[in-house]
Order: sequence, then structure tokens, then C-alpha cells
Amino acid sequence: MFAIEVLPTNAVELENVIQTVANIETMVQPDDAWNQRALTELLEQDSIRLLIAYDQAKEESVSHREIVVGYCLYQMTFEQAEVLRIGTDPKYQRKGIASQVLNKLHELLQLNQVESLLLEVRADNTAAIALYEQQAFNIIHKRKGYYKMPHKPVVDALVMKHTYI
Ligand SMILES: CC(C)(COP(=O)(O)OP(=O)(O)OC[C@H]1O[C@@H](n2cnc3c(N)ncnc32)[C@H](O)[C@@H]1OP(=O)(O)O)[C@@H](O)C(=O)NCCC(=O)NCCS
Repeated sequence: MFAIEVLPTNAVELENVIQTVANIETMVQPDDAWNQRALTELLEQDSIRLLIAYDQAKEESVSHREIVVGYCLYQMTFEQAEVLRIGTDPKYQRKGIASQVLNKLHELLQLNQVESLLLEVRADNTAAIALYEQQAFNIIHKRKGYYKMPHKPVVDALVMKHTYI
């Protein structure tokens, strides 16, 4: 069983959770991982928040730091929100965690009268695109050749939108 929660307020716990998220980032986004410092600085902004998925099965025996299995960093600006990062620990993928995290996010955004949720995804990220399509996101724009890495082919960015009203 997995639980989806907002960040803990206890400072030590918070630091540990952010470090674990940064560790997962290095596994799931190796070319562009956001580190603990970058995440901490972003979370100092009022509009940016982090949802965390915990593995409840392990919760009794270990600290939160070890049982964070997924996350979503998002920004809420009045009636619009954006997914900045989403990831699931590779050992826990295909268990419905990102779907649960997005469902929780939809719930929170609707409570805040948000009208739509945007995100950007690499056109070659078939796993993420399949997830977003399942979550009723539609492609609204394509940024041609947006992702450029040395010695790798350029890749388009897709902008996707989920509408609440
Ligand atoms: C994309 C990602 C967050 C999905 O996390 P997850 O917890 O495994 O997702 P879920 O288990 O909720 O999957 C929901 C649906 O998404 C699709 N999906 C997820 N992973 C997939 C994969 N590897 N291949 C194809 N479809 C996939 C499926 O439709 C899946 O439903 P199903 O399992 O019933 O077929 C995860 O693969 C990840 O961390 N990827 C690297 C980081 C990343 O790409 N983030 C998005 C950047 S925009």
C-alpha cells in the first residue's frame, strides 16, 4: 500500500525526504537530475510544493527517508498549475504510484479552484506520455527540437494540459 502526502513540517524529516527525492531524480532523470539544493531552493517559493508517495508496508520499521518511493513537484499560480517534476523509484514503477500521486494532485488543485494543469514532456518519453494520456492530458503544443544534448539527436517537447472545468 502507498500513501500520498504533502511534505512533513519537521525540518530534519523534510531534509531527509528532499534528499531521497534528489536520489530518485538521479536514477530516473540521469541527464538532468535536480539536486537537493535546487529542490530546497524551489520549495522556498510559496507557489511550489511537493507531493510524496510513501511505501506504507515498510513504514513501521524504517524512517521516512528510506520509504519515499515517488514524488511530484508542482507549481500553482492562481487558476493555473504546472507539474515541474514527477518520478517513481525504478524498483516501484508500474505499481500505480505516479497515477495515485496525480490523482491526489488533481484533488488538491480542484480544492484550490485551479482550472488547468500543464506539463512538458519529451516526445520520446513513451512511459510518461502513456501515463499522462491515461490521466486525461491532451497535447496542446509541440516545441520543435526543444531538447538538445551534445552527441544526441534533438527531441521535441510536448506541452500537455489537463482541464478541470
Ligand atoms: C513516468 C513515471 C513517473 C511513471 O511512474 P509509475 O509510478 O511507474 O506509473 P504508474 O504505475 O502509475 O503507471 C500508470 C500508467 O502509465 C503508463 N506507463 C507507466 N510506465 C510505463 C512504461 N514503462 N511503459 C509504458 N507505459 C507506462 C501505463 O499506461 C501505466 O498503466 P498500466 O501500468 O496500467 O499499464 C516513471 O516511469 C518515471 O519515474 N519515469 C522517469 C521520470 C520521468 O520520465 N518523469 C516524467 C518527466 S515529464
